[in-house]
Amino acid sequence: VGYSLYLDLVENLRNGQTRHDFPLGDEEKRCRHAIELAKQGKQVALVCSGDAGIYAMAALVYELIDREPCRIAVEVHPGISAFQMASAKVGAMIGHDFCCISLSDLLTPWVTIERRIKAAAEGDFVISFYNPRSLKRTDQIVKAFDILRPHRNADTPVVLASNLGRPEEKVRIIRFDEFNPEDVDMLTLVMVGSSQSRAFKRGDGKTYAYTPRGYAKKMEAR
Ligand SMILES: C[S@@+](CC[C@H](N)C(=O)[O-])C[C@H]1O[C@@H](n2cnc3c(N)ncnc32)[C@H](O)[C@@H]1O
Repeated sequence: VGYSLYLDLVENLRNGQTRHDFPLGDEEKRCRHAIELAKQGKQVALVCSGDAGIYAMAALVYELIDREPCRIAVEVHPGISAFQMASAKVGAMIGHDFCCISLSDLLTPWVTIERRIKAAAEGDFVISFYNPRSLKRTDQIVKAFDILRPHRNADTPVVLASNLGRPEEKVRIIRFDEFNPEDVDMLTLVMVGSSQSRAFKRGDGKTYAYTPRGYAKKMEAR
């Protein structure tokens, strides 16, 4: 059971199982369908992208079985979320404290999201923005950068990672002051460094980025 795009991505793993395709949106219908099939005694895989517990279906399944108790077994299998993959692709951006914020205000009021961005900016976290922009929702990432601007230097590394793990994958490291919202879409993860994050060029000509954990003090004391 899953969104058609995700089921297409794992089609090569299918081995006789019946596909239950759903369009984008209406996640409740998808989860209810999976639960119904499980209640009939079927073994069901509810397919998500990245980690099923991060802005995905696992929490909704638990919400439904909490509200409407039933006798089905549920197992959540952890995956690699977009922020982990983006960090690994460019080096080690999440080497120190980090957080994730979804900019989708479909289910969360914008004032709440704004409060979290401010707290993360002041707390100097590496911040990963999920759902940064859609066709109808274009303003939020611009507002997020406006909130962050007083708290980050112009050269703070920003990672723009699209279609991670897919043939169309594109990963770039830019400076905070180079950010252009037009470079971002709903398949992009935007990761903004903390005040300690650094980007540097290696001998292979490529730029890498990381957030140090604080070993420099130890190294310099020797
Ligand atoms: C509803 S969330 C799903 C997150 C997913 N469960 C995860 O753990 O990565 C959708 C958002 O996740 C990010 N995302 C998901 N898959 C991605 C990928 N392959 N590459 C880049 N970003 C991705 C994008 O920000 C997208 O707007």
